[in-house]
Amino acid sequence: MTSTTTLHVHIEHLRDAFGVSTDRPRLSWTIKTESQGWLQTGYEIEAHDMNGKVRGQTGKVDSDQSVLVAWPFAPLTSREQLSVRVHVWGKDGNVSEWSDVVSLEVGLLSASDWSARFITPTWDEDTSKSNPSPYLRSEFELRAGIKSARLYITSLGLYEAQLNGQVVGDHVFSPGWTVYDERLRYQTFDVTGMLKEGKNAIGAILGDGWFRGRIGFADGKRNIYGEQLALLAQLEVQYADGSSERIVTDDSQAWRAATGPILMNSIYDGETYDARLEHSGWTLPGFDDSAWSGVRTVDWNLNTLEAPMGPPVRRIEKIAPVSITKSPSGKTIVDFGQNLAGWLSIKVKGPVGHTVTLRHAEVLEHGELGTRPLRFAEATDRYTLRGGDVETWEPRFTFHGFRYVEVNDWPGELNPQDLTAIAVHSDLERTGWFETSDALINQLHQNVIWSMRGNFLDVPTDCPQRDERLGWTGDLEVFSPTASFLYDVSGFLQSWLTDLAIEQRKSGGRVPHVVPNVLGTNASSAAAWADAATVVPWVIYQRFGDREILAEQFESMCAWVDQIVSFAGKSRLWDKGFQFGDWVDPTAPPDKPAQARTDKAIVASAYFVHSANLIVKAAEVLGNSEAQKKYRVLADEARAAFAREYVTPSGRMMGDAETAYALAIAFDLLPTAEQRQRAGDRLSELVRDSGYHIRTGFVGTPIMCDALCSTGHYAAAYRLLLQQECPSWLYPVTKGATTIWERWDSMLQDGSINPGEMTSFNHYALGAVADWMHRTIGGLTPTEPGYRRMEIRPRPGGGLTHAQARHITPYGLAESSWNIENGKFDLNVNIPPNTTALVVLPNGERSEVGSGEWHWSVPYQDPDARGPYTIDDLTGDIMSDPAIRDIVMSAFDRLKVRDKFMLTMLLGERNLPFRQALRILPNDDEAVKVMSDALQSMK
Ligand code: BGC
Repeated sequence: MTSTTTLHVHIEHLRDAFGVSTDRPRLSWTIKTESQGWLQTGYEIEAHDMNGKVRGQTGKVDSDQSVLVAWPFAPLTSREQLSVRVHVWGKDGNVSEWSDVVSLEVGLLSASDWSARFITPTWDEDTSKSNPSPYLRSEFELRAGIKSARLYITSLGLYEAQLNGQVVGDHVFSPGWTVYDERLRYQTFDVTGMLKEGKNAIGAILGDGWFRGRIGFADGKRNIYGEQLALLAQLEVQYADGSSERIVTDDSQAWRAATGPILMNSIYDGETYDARLEHSGWTLPGFDDSAWSGVRTVDWNLNTLEAPMGPPVRRIEKIAPVSITKSPSGKTIVDFGQNLAGWLSIKVKGPVGHTVTLRHAEVLEHGELGTRPLRFAEATDRYTLRGGDVETWEPRFTFHGFRYVEVNDWPGELNPQDLTAIAVHSDLERTGWFETSDALINQLHQNVIWSMRGNFLDVPTDCPQRDERLGWTGDLEVFSPTASFLYDVSGFLQSWLTDLAIEQRKSGGRVPHVVPNVLGTNASSAAAWADAATVVPWVIYQRFGDREILAEQFESMCAWVDQIVSFAGKSRLWDKGFQFGDWVDPTAPPDKPAQARTDKAIVASAYFVHSANLIVKAAEVLGNSEAQKKYRVLADEARAAFAREYVTPSGRMMGDAETAYALAIAFDLLPTAEQRQRAGDRLSELVRDSGYHIRTGFVGTPIMCDALCSTGHYAAAYRLLLQQECPSWLYPVTKGATTIWERWDSMLQDGSINPGEMTSFNHYALGAVADWMHRTIGGLTPTEPGYRRMEIRPRPGGGLTHAQARHITPYGLAESSWNIENGKFDLNVNIPPNTTALVVLPNGERSEVGSGEWHWSVPYQDPDARGPYTIDDLTGDIMSDPAIRDIVMSAFDRLKVRDKFMLTMLLGERNLPFRQALRILPNDDEAVKVMSDALQSMK
């Protein structure tokens, strides 16, 4: 008999199931089994309370569901503690062992659970500028016999809490960033071990954060959510004798407040800390706070309080310096070898009152710190020493996007051990890995991961360094499939989408450019950005199998498309109003990133159809036939209007540019199969025309390779991917990039920073191609929500001899790994239990498989292989291969073709056979001969 175990039970979105945010969390489990093709036919769930008493038993449920199964018992109540276990029946007739029990503890589900009130210091502040951070403290007595203790805590602004001299938990940037006035998350900590019988002390430091710090570009705004920082804390202590006690923030004399060493804190500008002003022992009992002020309560709607849906932000990785050097102007520059978001932890010894200054930047320009792209973000931390022993310090309420730090006024010699970079982001579970035989592609993929890590700091942001760091909707719209492969972003994005819907409601149905919205409710909505409202829920449904997200977001999805309808009117073409369009098309001037080759109206009208279609699909899933009908009509009308306006009968696009074709293909906007193929062929011609360089921006780039491949142009997609000259995905890699850049040439060839004022080196949007890499090179694609069914169809190309894609799906690990050696293609596949897969080999062979490990080995011929170039190949093909281009250019030298204009004309004939293009030359016969010989020499 084969053994089957229910391996892991997961309470929705929470790795530790502590402080659960809902009274009905959904349950998922994965199964480990030796039997191949394992499918579930039934399950049983049991829940026990902490005394071992049964809280619920489902009995055997005939069902094949193992992901996000609805809570089967009576709703949970605040603070409830349970243990849950599951076992399953397989189609093979076997019953698994019971899983290990997973414990669950519910947070505070209702406002009435809180007796604490928000408190703030009584002193006055000038909130037109940054103020010193308040320190709040209180002491309290506990009796003997403490059984357990929980701290429920949040703040207006950011907080760091301490109990009896120790920092509580390992979260940073709590409570994160949401639309605070409607959703303010609190955190739950188990603090049992931090308390003792007798006197105890509690305290918290508050920071400006997003709540009242300066946020937004062009000087931004302060006090967006309010002017007062405040703390809400409720410590609940249970005694062994069954009694309990609460210590809460209130306006009693017990709570005292003072400023301290944090003189200034700003997400953009940095932190200024004077260690001479520290209150040593301020969260130990007995500390003398007689000079401290009192506190007062702040009104805040406690109905806004909720437990987090996703993981907290933590310090995730420590990185040591790779070098410390002197810049040409004599500055000390530390290179950490990796562009990241976070801060420095320093160890310093020196005289009292001495100040060390740390300036952060992503790049060097001519050997000096390149701070111009930071615009109005000062990105500078200052630490003033208390003197004496070695002092360690790191900031609390700021973060920087940096690889380099300029260290000024370090006392004595600076050693690498004195500085550590701390990478900080939401502590998401890593679920995706990808590698190939090509080192540059692997580095590109690494860069995508690091740009995701740099920009998933509680909110999905555009960039982590300049005066922006906002939840730009368009960036996430294109990146969400990639993000969903690399990390479990389901809870993180569920939270963000909840805010999106709120902000959309506040903006009368329009989806703001950034969520949370700090740009005001009057801004218009832009295509591809606002469409995050429809695209992201659909991606989450596809990748995580979460049907509820569609139900939750459905109103927002429809409200958004209804807005488009009002913009487009009867014409069903969205060709009016503000648009970003195919943002940062490389042909756009540095200072005009919206001036793309593809008409903005094409982008907008294409997204109209796409979003309406997504609603049709979502309505079908939700069984909402009325909505399905309504949006089907709209989608059809908009699709017909698009074709009428922008597609020629033969399949050319009005607006003969890559993004226009890619959109029409990817969003299925071409009425006939012939037009679609013609569009694909033309797209491939344009790509060849560009010499296999990128000519697309945020909108076109993520879908280019898919559009090429789905019309049969794999070779073109691979050539585009493998291009190393600018603009291309690999150009930054060849320049030593460790993250994805905002612009194709954020760093120019000559080592100077792109003069455009919007130039970041850490923007994930253009890295959205990774999703195509996972699906096409790796070959792993979900074909039913949550990878319940998947397709393994690797399509090798570009000379790659190996690739591997691995993904922890909601059902468990799926893997596709291939090698080409000695004319053989070997494929190893791993399919998780309770799923099925269609495997398609490069030779077209198809197999249906279930769970387990599978292997294939078949003869292989490179389908894109071509013979050596000849004089009858197209000029564009010849000139797009850098090796051949060099040979041709030196042959022109030998032919003494010096007339630049003529040469440009000739080489511009990209779609002409090279032999014919050469006819323009006076010595054409000789030219044909010399070039033939030159090409021949390449064989
Ligand atoms: C951001 C982008 C964003 C854009 C809007 C920029 O400043 O950094 O990534 O999507 O504005 O077009």
